[in-house]
Amino acid sequence: MQTDFPTRREIGVFDSGVGGFTVLRELRALIPGARLRYLADTAYAPYGPRTPDDIRARSVAITEHLIAQGASLIVIACNTATAHAIEALRARWPAVPFVGTEPGIKPAVAASRNGRIGLLATDATAASARLHALIERHASDHQVVVQGCPGIVDHIEAGDLDSPALRALVQRYCAPLRAAGVDTALLGCTHYPLIEPLWHEALGADVQLLRIETAVARRAADLWQPDAGPPVLNIDTSGDPAALRGWIEHVLDWRAPDVRRWPAAAG
Ligand code: DGL
Repeated sequence: MQTDFPTRREIGVFDSGVGGFTVLRELRALIPGARLRYLADTAYAPYGPRTPDDIRARSVAITEHLIAQGASLIVIACNTATAHAIEALRARWPAVPFVGTEPGIKPAVAASRNGRIGLLATDATAASARLHALIERHASDHQVVVQGCPGIVDHIEAGDLDSPALRALVQRYCAPLRAAGVDTALLGCTHYPLIEPLWHEALGADVQLLRIETAVARRAADLWQPDAGPPVLNIDTSGDPAALRGWIEHVLDWRAPDVRRWPAAAG
């Protein structure tokens, strides 16, 4: 079903929660005049333990909302939703450009000196056929250690960026990468750069850490046709707007943006 294009043009950005702010941050820097609308699907976060059908259904509902609000370009600021939903979204809205977020396997292959790469991701991304096809396409002659990291997103969503419990989880998930002797690691979830110092600490100074948000924002900037008019940032959430506003002020140090509830049934 093709939704009619409204006259206002926005870039719609979504994630299960706050992880996509790492992409939004880059988008604001690269396209200072853009009208941006961010949807945090907080009531359904985390996506990592959800089924592919669930993740697709959420992504379709969110995209419908973003397009209805005026989005003419959609940035999926979530590896998990990209892995399980981007094909369905493109099939459903063939005239809308979608920019996905996927682990930078190709840059990691170029950067690795010893041919051993680690990838930290949600369980749903780690299990996805799309990720394994990407690895097969770009890194078939490399060793890629794919590590699912359940629980990490829950801490970050709660505003915990450095508790002992979170550090212990990070250490646990980095152990197989260290044991394999990787020299390059990919943060394959947009939440993970928010705790980048913890990954560095757990992996050690010899392991280079690659992230993808800047490349995603650059791709969106290439596709975006600038409009006249002032920049706009709208933030919607399926969860509690006050809690999200608090998170944004506390973690990102952005001045209290307006956060509105997107009326979706939680479940
Ligand atoms: N930030 C997301 C990603 O990049 C989703 C994390 C989650 O909700 O589990 O995969």
